[in-house]
Amino acid sequence: MEWKNEFTRLLGITYPLIQAPMLGITTPAMVAAVSNSGGLGSLPVGGLPPEKVTALIREVKGLTQQPFAVNLFTYEPAAQYDRKVFDDMQDFLQFLCGANGLAAPTVNFDAVPFYSWREQVPVLIAAGIRYVSFTFGMPDPQGFALLKAHNIFLMGTATSVEEAIALKAAGADAVVAQGIEAGGHRGSFLPGALPVVGTMALLPQVIDRVRIPVIAAGGIMDGRGVAAARILGAAAVQTGSIYLRAHESAATPAHKAALAGITDTDTLLTRAFSGRWARGVRNTLITEVEASGLPISDYPYQDTLTQSIRKVARELDNTGFINMWAGQAAGKARAWSAADIFAELVRETEALLH
Ligand SMILES: Cc1cc2nc3c(=O)[nH]c(=O)nc-3n(C[C@H](O)[C@H](O)[C@H](O)COP(=O)(O)O)c2cc1C
Repeated sequence: MEWKNEFTRLLGITYPLIQAPMLGITTPAMVAAVSNSGGLGSLPVGGLPPEKVTALIREVKGLTQQPFAVNLFTYEPAAQYDRKVFDDMQDFLQFLCGANGLAAPTVNFDAVPFYSWREQVPVLIAAGIRYVSFTFGMPDPQGFALLKAHNIFLMGTATSVEEAIALKAAGADAVVAQGIEAGGHRGSFLPGALPVVGTMALLPQVIDRVRIPVIAAGGIMDGRGVAAARILGAAAVQTGSIYLRAHESAATPAHKAALAGITDTDTLLTRAFSGRWARGVRNTLITEVEASGLPISDYPYQDTLTQSIRKVARELDNTGFINMWAGQAAGKARAWSAADIFAELVRETEALLH
């Protein structure tokens, strides 16, 4: 099986291997290392202020001349949210942090900082970004039209066949089929029960229904996973957890050490950190918020409540209060450079497929 395919040709890359965008973990150095290795690095900017997005893109461009993608959170925040739910959770989190020696500033409900993908798109256009992936929904028709008018290749995240069909119908150029094994937030965006479909089941069903390139994501940690996804028909593979312990990862030392020992059953899906379902390693904050029985505000309000806690916890390297997103197979992540991790993935896959 050749590495080159329609996807690599469209993007001008050597290998159809994408480094998943991981907000809080992915650094410009990680993006550049993967792009310089012939894959596609992805820079996550979901919810970041436009000036920060500009600075991060500039940093990546300073490190690589190769193609890379920028990743957006394309959702519409709930118009209504419940102040009492927000305040009760804030009181609880303040108590919990106090009891654990963390001094995290409180958040003013009326001044919840929030940056929409709409404010970020002009920055991407001005920077000449050619590849954009998105999760938590999709741009509205005007957003699609604007991005398309600038020849931007659009990759949307789907966690069910129905979502993949919706993305294609809206104009996505490729779909990321995200299995339930995946670390981090679920990209799920259609109303109803959360889809909980594994990569192996989701991928062929999506491929059969959308005639655009499908990118496999979730639980892929080595050449066996890449080979399996390619044989199932994936145009490309997107891996996140494989880079969690990379030298270029922004995870703190204790965070990386905690990931080193995890097994297949050590992650769970939780809304405790952000209000959106995400897969990560259980820790004090998750356990206590879930045990409190308190309702959790929808994203991004719960996310805003835990932001200062996560910041303080990172400074103290306190893994009880850091959101340690990780996939079901993340225990296989190696503490290597991103370039070495990438090269090993290529080598293992070639040993199986070529
Ligand atoms: C720490 C972490 C952060 C993530 N952040 C993002 C993000 O900002 N945007 C996004 O589209 N996906 C994000 N994801 C999901 C990845 O894009 C991808 O679906 C997932 O990593 C694939 O599964 P794997 O972790 O088993 O490789 C994140 C995943 C992890 C592990």
